[in-house]
Amino acid sequence: MARILTGVQSTGVPHLGNILGAILPAIELSNKDENDSFIFIANLHTLTAVKNQEDIREHTYAVAAAWIALGLDPEKCVFYRQSDLPEVTELTWYLNCFASFNRLQLAHSFKDKSAKLDDVNVGLYDYPVLMAADILLYDANIVPVGKDQKQHLEITRDLASKVNQLCGEDTLVVPDISLNESTMLVPGIDGQKMSKSYGNFIDIFLPAKKLKKQVNSIVTDSLELEDPKDPDNCTVVDLYKLLASPEKVKEMEDNYRAGGYGYGHAKKALLEEINEHFGEARDKYNDLMADKKKLDEILAIGADKARKVSQATLSRVRTRLGY
Ligand code: ADP
Ligand code: TRP
Repeated sequence: MARILTGVQSTGVPHLGNILGAILPAIELSNKDENDSFIFIANLHTLTAVKNQEDIREHTYAVAAAWIALGLDPEKCVFYRQSDLPEVTELTWYLNCFASFNRLQLAHSFKDKSAKLDDVNVGLYDYPVLMAADILLYDANIVPVGKDQKQHLEITRDLASKVNQLCGEDTLVVPDISLNESTMLVPGIDGQKMSKSYGNFIDIFLPAKKLKKQVNSIVTDSLELEDPKDPDNCTVVDLYKLLASPEKVKEMEDNYRAGGYGYGHAKKALLEEINEHFGEARDKYNDLMADKKKLDEILAIGADKARKVSQATLSRVRTRLGY
């Protein structure tokens, strides 16, 4: 049985891009009986960028509620909050003492993020080492991530090997990278990649009226209702394709080419598809967000399961390092 581990930062309510690109594929993996899955909310990483206690707390709950509402079964995997297991910060310290200052300074993600800031905090610089600790603490074999995280995983492998060289090959599990090459790119309402940082996202958990407003704000050209339109060059169709059946997509494409079919019609069809796919998840999400005690209970059970592994790993590392 392979141990699969993945983490998600809690920087806001997950949007349609996060859901289709990362959450649903991970849930599918975690629901397979042959996998032993660890999924956690990386809310310590969040502090590198978010400095507001209310947001830190609420976003952690929002991410937890979203995963469960979208079908994650906390009984079939170990689902926990990173901050509930402070062992990870101790392991981070040990790994820090093996990490190369230069390599971290040259990491793409650090360079991109720090270039946009006047004041760069050390947490941002150390982000990959905390991520390595997340992975190594739980003896993960496979870490499925998007291409943007590849370098972080190479750093993780490197750190594990350096510790093993000193402490013995069976100290830390060197994980395999499972790159999700085919990850779909979900466009935002302006046609660019959907992202929290571009403010162009669709939040499927919004109340009906607000969601409708978001869908209606998808940018299109200004052709009139009766004009024939190009389905290969329209964000509404691109989003529709990610959700609707091939028959429905073909129908929409034919309607575009024939004319007499407006962008308003297409947006209405897209909204219906979103509601059909995610209406139930939205209700469940709202129920969970109204019952934080329940979320705390679920996450506490996950933390108890995770602690059994984290304490064993940490004690192995401590002893072998001479402490
Ligand atoms: P954001 O860009 O909104 O800040 P994150 O970088 O936190 O999103 O991404 C979290 C996860 O969601 C990552 O695994 C990423 O690959 C996936 N993801 C984010 N945006 C998209 C998108 N537009 N299409 C597909 N996957 C996405
Ligand atoms: N850095 C990852 C991201 O931004 C989130 C993350 C933190 C993670 N720790 C992890 C992913 C450990 C996989 C394994 O998407």
